[in-house]
Amino acid sequence: MTTSLVTPSVQDGLLGTSLRQQIDSNIEDLIASLPDPKQLTAEQRRGMIARYTAVLEGNFIYWMTATYLSVKAEEARPILLGNLREEVGDCHPAMLRNFTMAAHAFPTDQDALDVHADLTKVRLFLGRMSGVQNLLTMAFFEGYIQQYMVYLAALAELQGSAERVYTDVHGVCDIEHSEGLFRALYAEMAVNPLDPSADLFEGVDLLRTLLQRINRVDESKIAA
Ligand SMILES: [Fe+2]
Repeated sequence: MTTSLVTPSVQDGLLGTSLRQQIDSNIEDLIASLPDPKQLTAEQRRGMIARYTAVLEGNFIYWMTATYLSVKAEEARPILLGNLREEVGDCHPAMLRNFTMAAHAFPTDQDALDVHADLTKVRLFLGRMSGVQNLLTMAFFEGYIQQYMVYLAALAELQGSAERVYTDVHGVCDIEHSEGLFRALYAEMAVNPLDPSADLFEGVDLLRTLLQRINRVDESKIAA
C-alpha cells in the first residue's frame, strides 16, 4: 500500500499508536531507572517523597487547567473538565499532603529549591498554551503517576507510614485519565494540529527532566 492510499483516519490511527508507544516507552524507562527503595537511606527516601510533593501538590491542577485553556477541540474539553472536577471535588492536593505528612516527608525549603529550575521550565512551557503539546505532556504525566504509585507507596512504607489513600486512588483511576487524555489528544490533533516545525515532545522532555530531578539521589549515599 502506498502512502497516498492510506486514508486520513488510518494515518491518525498509526500516528496515535506510535505516540502511545513512545510515551509508554518513556514511562517504562523512567520507572526502570528508579533505585531500589531498600538500598536508599531514610533521608534519600524522605527527599524523593518531599520533592514529588513539592511538584505535584501545587501544580497538577494548575497544569491540567493550562491544558484545558489551550485546547480548541470541543471533544477534548469534557475530558479535561472531568479530570479537573475529580481533582478539586475529591481534593487530591489534601490527599497528597496527608500521605506526605504521614511519611514525615513534608517538603522543606531546600526540597522545593532542588526542583525549582526544572519546575519553572515546565510551568512556562505549559503556559504557552499549545494544545497538542500540552495534552501529550499531561498524558505522559498521568501515565507516569499511575506507574509510580507502587514505588511511592513502598518509599512511604519504609518510612513507617501506613497511609495509602493517595497512592491507592491514583494507581487505579489514572488509568482512565490517561486513556481519556489520549482521546483528547487525537481530537486536538485533528482540529488544531501542531506546526510541523515544532517539537511535539518538547513538554514531555522538560517534564521527564523534572521527574528525573525528583528521583535523583546522590549515588554515594546509597547503602552498600
Ligand atoms: Fe489526582
